[in-house]
Amino acid sequence: MSNLVSDLVSRGTKSVPAHFVRPVGDRPSVTEEEEGSSTGESSFTMIDLQGLHGPNRATILNTIHEACKNDGFFLIKNHGIPDDVVNGMMEVSRDFFRLPESERLKTYSEDTTKTVRLSCSFNVNKEEVGSWRDYLRLHCYPLEDHVRDWPSQPPSFRQVASEYCTRVRNLALELLEALSESLGLETNHLNDALGGHGQHMAINYYPPCPQPELTYGLPGHTDPNALTILLQDDVPGLQVLKGGKWVRLNPIPKVFIVNIGDQIQVLSNGVYKSVLHRALVNSERERISIPTFYCPSPDAVIRPADGLVDEHNPPLYRRYHYREYYESFWDHGLKDQSCIEKFTI
Ligand code: OGA
Ligand code: NI
Repeated sequence: MSNLVSDLVSRGTKSVPAHFVRPVGDRPSVTEEEEGSSTGESSFTMIDLQGLHGPNRATILNTIHEACKNDGFFLIKNHGIPDDVVNGMMEVSRDFFRLPESERLKTYSEDTTKTVRLSCSFNVNKEEVGSWRDYLRLHCYPLEDHVRDWPSQPPSFRQVASEYCTRVRNLALELLEALSESLGLETNHLNDALGGHGQHMAINYYPPCPQPELTYGLPGHTDPNALTILLQDDVPGLQVLKGGKWVRLNPIPKVFIVNIGDQIQVLSNGVYKSVLHRALVNSERERISIPTFYCPSPDAVIRPADGLVDEHNPPLYRRYHYREYYESFWDHGLKDQSCIEKFTI
């Protein structure tokens, strides 16, 4: 019998086991502000990436700057990744989670240092309360070092996910250039700062939950990497802390969500914000989200950019190797206080 939440659900659980129940005062509230997805309206900034290549680049960079400074999140459309690549990735992910338990369990591991693993919750070795989530986590760059370790079922998994990862990596590189310029830095600053670069992907699977008001799919956290590019299916669940309130960021077809991770907060010396977000579950439908975590290589030295530090703006963070940060993230667990606090001066 596996620890996976999906298998718990398929055994017909009618209530949330005690291990998943959040303490009173740390539960999803049903009265909080809602964002409409039916209208396609969002209070987060939409960036038309195609425009970045035209005469409006400077204006768009300015809009990106404001979004990263104030919200830490923005939306992108016309990102150039073909619909069939995006839809294929979502389909093969859904098919993976429909494989028989015995097939899925071949990838199961609770060792957070593994580069390919199916697991549940967040870090089952460290946490007191579980989260209503299973996830397949894959290292994806350099691709040729990792693909052979990825799941071999469904049969098209490796090919479809490789194509998706390659496309998303190119998008990440383009965004890193835009973010560098929007900070007033050299175009290559952030790309260079990430050393040899890394790319991880999670395929989050949130099964329907009989009592969604008692638990989270993922509790509030910030992302430890540089930049996250999130693909989600059509089921709402993501919330972002904005102006002190949890605001829904509902799915919009063909649109990716981009958020600043802890590393860009450090590299920008706190100008850009790595913001708390969380995932709620619901009793009706399963939900899949696929974040790409674009990150430094483990040996990259991370520190505030010289161009953003002067006598009026002292460095807020000490220098460190990304490896150190990443280990402390898994150790720290998902708490409302991000582990970035340990790296402040
Ligand atoms: C994450 C994350 C949000 C979501 O995996 O880090 O924030 O909507 N996921 O699943
Ligand atoms: Ni996240």
